[in-house]
Amino acid sequence: MAALRQIAFYGKGGIGKSTTSQNTHAALVELGQKILIVGCDPKADSTRLMLFAKKKSTFVSG
Ligand SMILES: Nc1ncnc2c1ncn2[C@@H]1O[C@H](COP(=O)(O)OP(=O)(O)OP(=O)(O)O)[C@@H](O)[C@H]1O
Ligand SMILES: [Mg+2]
Repeated sequence: MAALRQIAFYGKGGIGKSTTSQNTHAALVELGQKILIVGCDPKADSTRLMLFAKKKSTFVSG
């Protein structure tokens, strides 16, 4: 059985925690990983992505 890895996204409001966690989650699922998201989601940003109702956009520089 593979070892459990934990990644935390934390910091003050509006710094991109939800966007970064959701896109990381999506990328790892596409790689075949099983993901559990644990956290407070009062605005439902993460819930919307998990329900495939609203994917948060992100930015690519360059
Ligand atoms: N890498 C980025 N570059 C520019 N803007 C970004 C980036 N990541 C997120 N944003 C934008 O910043 C805003 C806040 O992002 P997000 O909701 O992910 O932050 P948050 O830390 O989860 O906020 P909150 O603390 O309110 O939950 C959103 O409008 C998002 O689109
Ligand atoms: Mg958030």
